[in-house]
Amino acid sequence: MPGEKADVVMFGPKPIIEQALEKAGFTVHRVFAAADPDTFIDRVAPTVRAIAAVAGHGPVDSAIMSRFPKLEIVSSFGVGYDHIDAKWAGQHGVIVTNTPDVLNEEVADTAIGLTLCTVRHLPQAERYLRAGHWPKHGDYQLTPSLRDRTVGIVGMGRIGKAIARRFDAMRVPVVYHSRRPTDVPYRHYPNILDMARDVNLMVVITPGGAATKNLINADVLKALGPEGILINVARGSVVDEQALMKALKDKTILAAGLDVFVNEPQVPQELMELDNVVLLPHVGSASHATRRAMDELVANNIISWFSGKGALTPVPETPVKKP
Ligand code: 8YV
Repeated sequence: MPGEKADVVMFGPKPIIEQALEKAGFTVHRVFAAADPDTFIDRVAPTVRAIAAVAGHGPVDSAIMSRFPKLEIVSSFGVGYDHIDAKWAGQHGVIVTNTPDVLNEEVADTAIGLTLCTVRHLPQAERYLRAGHWPKHGDYQLTPSLRDRTVGIVGMGRIGKAIARRFDAMRVPVVYHSRRPTDVPYRHYPNILDMARDVNLMVVITPGGAATKNLINADVLKALGPEGILINVARGSVVDEQALMKALKDKTILAAGLDVFVNEPQVPQELMELDNVVLLPHVGSASHATRRAMDELVANNIISWFSGKGALTPVPETPVKKP
């Protein structure tokens, strides 16, 4: 029925999503505000038809989804949805949506910023100035350069393309690795090791999950080589973090710039002690404007679904139609 309202459950706070849904007449059940979340879920579960999911508040797996017998849609914040068992959802008639496109340019900007920080030591140089070293010890040391590099992008989806365009403009030659070649003018490498051997800068922007777990392993890092720089703005799981720390310590590669980690928000102390890494607290899409656009898309997917118009941005594993 067009204009239908429904009960929505949320496991983490997201004021813009909460307000948009309530303004549209939906009832929002806030698990995160409950004294006893389990009892709370049991109480609201029979009427809940939607989950507005925020990463970092536990996985939305089959155990969670099956607690809601009337569940129709999981509308997830973020383009990556490796915290959701989308396969199970698809098999059980539950549609999953994510927030693609609205963050492409922001994450690409961050990837370039992190690359420049890592290659040109910008955070280290700033720390040098603030520590008062400049007048006492003279100029900050010379740094590596982007000027002698070829970038290998791992993942040539929507954000990968936005990153590639920026490197194009910066006159840095681009090549890429993905499972299948796509509609871009850059050289495609079906084998990541071959690409790692040919480049000295690697930018990772491929989805997380089982298919890409530890894709960047000790062999890839070795192939990237002692001048190689790794940038990860995808998911921590794509890089073997232990192998990376070892490679940074023993100079198997030159440096790394990381916006994502295996066990966020925990970052290994070992990594923090290295001076050839630049570390960011997963800020890829984290501007006011982009986060608002993502929040609105989460709410609008639910609103569109219950007004009978279908979901706006369903993920491919869940080709579910509104009954
Ligand atoms: C978000 C992201 O920061 O969209 C994604 O997949 O990684 C980021 O844009 C993340 O979802 C925050 O929870």
